[in-house]
Amino acid sequence: MIQPSLVNQLSAGTSAAVLPGLSAPFGEVDFAAFQKRVELSTRILLSEYKSDQMRRRIATLAEKSGCKSFVEYARIIEQDSTALSAFLDRMTINVTELMRNPDRFDELAKFALPELMARRKGTPISVWSAGCSYGAEAYTVAMLLHELDPTVQHKVKGTDLDLAILAKADRPTFTPADMLNVSPARRETHFHELCGSYQPKMHLKSRVRFSQHDLLAHPYPNAEYDLVLCRNVVIYFTDDAKDRIYRGLFQSLKPGGILFVGGTERIADHRGIGFESLRPFFYRKPL
Ligand SMILES: C[S@@+](CC[C@H](N)C(=O)[O-])C[C@H]1O[C@@H](n2cnc3c(N)ncnc32)[C@H](O)[C@@H]1O
Repeated sequence: MIQPSLVNQLSAGTSAAVLPGLSAPFGEVDFAAFQKRVELSTRILLSEYKSDQMRRRIATLAEKSGCKSFVEYARIIEQDSTALSAFLDRMTINVTELMRNPDRFDELAKFALPELMARRKGTPISVWSAGCSYGAEAYTVAMLLHELDPTVQHKVKGTDLDLAILAKADRPTFTPADMLNVSPARRETHFHELCGSYQPKMHLKSRVRFSQHDLLAHPYPNAEYDLVLCRNVVIYFTDDAKDRIYRGLFQSLKPGGILFVGGTERIADHRGIGFESLRPFFYRKPL
């Protein structure tokens, strides 16, 4: 919970540099204090997010809650756990679906996975879905791996900052909207349909595990994964934060391992980190 002193700190701040379109009290000084205390109490590192975007998002939330300033919004979050959850939901943005950007996942299945599997010669490959939300990405990779070789028990780890969303990932139930890009044949093979929702079958569930990991704060494993997916997670982060995350993911890949990023993402200085660019959205750690 955000401590009561937050309100006092914010009240003491003077508003400055108001963003265009935002009313006066949503100022920089107020926001700086708000950000600091939110970091302390929720461990969400707001300072690593692009600040104008973040301020706008929080100001919109505050206005929706009927607040006229960050000060007032802090008070609401402090007193109302539902408002705090809404705030955390908005900050972590859990939007996902199976086969998100299907053409990219087709490329993954056609060129990246066969290459990685060939290198492991019939032993399991290990995959990390970093920033996995409620698991659609992890289950997508498990499905593609099963289709390529059902006899090998490949391992897919999904991690996220958000414990509530990980609890959902552990009891996966996908909606028809989550499944839009999954063909009827695949639905039939890999999912049980139950009253209009879809649950992965045991051959997928047995390959997938979830745990908490904060890409901004936790250590990165060394050379553990053949494939890392980090898609639609870093878009809101500053360039510095992105750089640290991509360096961490590089460290986590085995030599020859592949990093798969989101459909609007590219690594600004991939060579500086050590990556080779394989094709758009796919990077390799050299052997
Ligand atoms: C938009 S979802 C992306 C889900 C999936 N990768 C996809 O592309 O469909 C972004 C996820 O990143 C998570 N996230 C945000 N900041 C994070 C951090 N610092 N460490 C780990 N996960 C984070 C959010 O909780 C959210 O579930």
